[in-house]
Amino acid sequence: MKNKSLVSITDFSKSDYLKILDLAEEYERHPVKDILKGKVVATLFFEPSTRTRLSFESAVNKMGGKVIGFSDSSSTSVTKGESLYDTIKIVSNYCDLIVMRHPLEGSARFASEIATVPVINAGDGANQHPTQTLLDLYSIRKTQGKLDNLTIFMVGDMKYGRTVHSLLMAMSQFNATFHFISPDELKMPEEYKIHLRSVGLRFYEHKDFTDIISEADIIYMTRVQKERFSDLIEYERTKNAYVLKNKMLVNTKENLRILHPLPRVNEIDQDVDQSPKAYYFAQALNGVYIRQAIISLILGLN
Ligand code: CP
Repeated sequence: MKNKSLVSITDFSKSDYLKILDLAEEYERHPVKDILKGKVVATLFFEPSTRTRLSFESAVNKMGGKVIGFSDSSSTSVTKGESLYDTIKIVSNYCDLIVMRHPLEGSARFASEIATVPVINAGDGANQHPTQTLLDLYSIRKTQGKLDNLTIFMVGDMKYGRTVHSLLMAMSQFNATFHFISPDELKMPEEYKIHLRSVGLRFYEHKDFTDIISEADIIYMTRVQKERFSDLIEYERTKNAYVLKNKMLVNTKENLRILHPLPRVNEIDQDVDQSPKAYYFAQALNGVYIRQAIISLILGLN
């Protein structure tokens, strides 16, 4: 992984995932290690973020490094017409690693081909969000004691939700059974279903999941991605398709955990927050340990 960019979750192997998860456990036990002294990480966020940017910055700070960057490209020379190509060329000179979120699918790959330092994709449009997936894997292993042979329900926006795309690709290496629950307008794109068929994994598509919820080991709720819709009437029609409530958890498995990459809008009622099966806030905390592990491995410090 040393000096390698992380653009898609498929850039790393199953053994890489496990190595990152093991190192993240080490960071969870001993969060502060001064190994980034003298290193600079640039966080370039062309789209809003709370968790991803701040957990990356927290990770760098805990390891003794420095952060430069922006959370709003309107404060940069992009507003004067500077291209992404030029921005990446320049920022490469100022740092040891770039973490970038951008609305365009493929922008992270493009940046990784231009940059002279490794690039970590912090989300490129509806495409991929690989570091979210690694923290999801960490959360799943921590709560289930394993990654293999689990039944994963993904609920909400399968079309535009980059986190479900990355998670599907990763969990397909662990013999998962998938249930995709979405309105017709937001179904899982065909390319991901082709992938699952090609590796011989079972997946099922539903419009409702109340009758089958007792089968789930993980329910991965997602927000309907308003910012990706060209037709806001369609967004209004689908935005409240699924709202998970505490009473729906009555006949669920003991080991069930509810994950959500966050932010949530209406899709998980606040009455779920007190359930021992709610794990989404702890999941976000795991993002710090995972990002410490990813940064230190890419910079060759572990
Ligand atoms: N999960 C996630 O990507 O959250 P942010 O958009 O707040 O970074």
